[in-house]
Amino acid sequence: EPAPPGTFVIFGGGGDLTRRLLMPALYNLACSGLLNEDFSIVIVDWAELSDEDLITQFRASIDDFVNKRGTTATELQHQVWERLTANTSYLRGSFEDAATYHALGERISGRNAVFYLAVAARFFGTIVDNLGESGLAREENGVTRRVIIEKPFGSDLASARALNVRLQRSLDETQIYRIDHYLGKETVQNILALRFSNGIFEPLWNRQNIDHVQITAAETVGVEKRGRFYEQTGATRDMVPNHLMQLLTMVGMEAPTSFDADAVRDEKAKVLAAVQPVKMEDMVRGQYVSGSFGVGDEAEALRGYREEQDIALGSQTETYVAMKLGIDNWRWAGVPFYLRTGKRLRVRKTEIAIHFKQAPFALFRDTPVDKLTPNILVLHIQPTEGVTLQFSAKVPGPAVRLGGVRMKFDYSDWFSDGPSTGYETLIYDCLIGDQTLFQRADNIEGGWRIVQPALSAAAGDHAPLSFYPAGLDGPRDADELLARTGRRWLELS
Ligand code: BG6
Repeated sequence: EPAPPGTFVIFGGGGDLTRRLLMPALYNLACSGLLNEDFSIVIVDWAELSDEDLITQFRASIDDFVNKRGTTATELQHQVWERLTANTSYLRGSFEDAATYHALGERISGRNAVFYLAVAARFFGTIVDNLGESGLAREENGVTRRVIIEKPFGSDLASARALNVRLQRSLDETQIYRIDHYLGKETVQNILALRFSNGIFEPLWNRQNIDHVQITAAETVGVEKRGRFYEQTGATRDMVPNHLMQLLTMVGMEAPTSFDADAVRDEKAKVLAAVQPVKMEDMVRGQYVSGSFGVGDEAEALRGYREEQDIALGSQTETYVAMKLGIDNWRWAGVPFYLRTGKRLRVRKTEIAIHFKQAPFALFRDTPVDKLTPNILVLHIQPTEGVTLQFSAKVPGPAVRLGGVRMKFDYSDWFSDGPSTGYETLIYDCLIGDQTLFQRADNIEGGWRIVQPALSAAAGDHAPLSFYPAGLDGPRDADELLARTGRRWLELS
């Protein structure tokens, strides 16, 4: 069903995010008939651009997007595109200048509006203050005004709290949509479906049956052109309080009583509140040094982090982090959650591995214990999407021998998904006023609270770095973190 009429205002619309993701996502929504006939877009930025320049840019970005899928636009898609661009306009102005908001007010007067802040984080507060002061944030006569905020939301617990307080001066919590793009991923949303729409998983989903949980977000890319941002950020801030915490809450939360936004977010808040802040001895920070993808003639040489563009020679920024967390509640007490994420690793892979406890071995006395395949349920998030279950089976033959086997469900075998940037659902949900997939203030702060000891230690130079060669599996110390209790990371490749 199409969303209500309105205007989508993109602050920072001249930037990369708008070109790569937002415009293609809006286009996809329009193609699926999910935007209203009466839908317009206003791009606010300070670059010297005409409406035509802007349209030319967007045309290129959508063409790129459509072509990447190896198809040519149909007549219908063409019409959709024409209509979308005909209703897109540019507003040049500074985010700090009241005149910009005045001009914007004229374009959206009496209309619903979503303000998307696709800008550097330092502008979040300024823009929202101005929306408040100019009256543009006011919802009256049935008109809705909503604000979508990208990450990074603060850089530690104190700054995230301060930003929440500042936003709430101009906006009600129901108007604030804090994005975590992991919640736009189908497979992340599917974790709740898997757990709560099947009878077989939930009875096992607890400390009686689960030994530990591993959450991995491994990337092959390095820091790319984002050196200036990344130097100040590091892997912990960039990935843990937000993306990895989303995965942890999806796995760890209790069943909400409904899919109502607050019912879901209340449960997330509860599980986050039960996670103990990370201890330094349970954490490993790594940084990549030069290495290569592959070996021999085919090998691709990779630079170390400190040799990358805009990185300090003696940088102490971590490009990898692994940690052990505990959830102190009835369901999870004593079950470690191991998290790891890093850049320049061997493979790109995001997955959650639920390691079940071993069966008692009595029947298989003669089978060496380390040959028993542990039962691991792996939720594959990307690049392949699916679920696998690993277990032991009898190897055919007269002797009793056990072998590891794997049962595999691949999304693409069952469902064909439409073209997607991962932002379609999020944008549509905001247009219809559904906050379920957005972060509430307390959820954001809950994530920061958990990693705060790590941030404080790094700021005070009390956090050592373990170096790892680019293109491999991360620092050895991260293996050690699990080996202490006789556990092992699931192989990366
Ligand atoms: C972003 C981080 O939020 O998430 C990036 O800033 C990271 O550094 C990216 O690469 C990972 O997203 P995805 O969807 O590729 O897992």
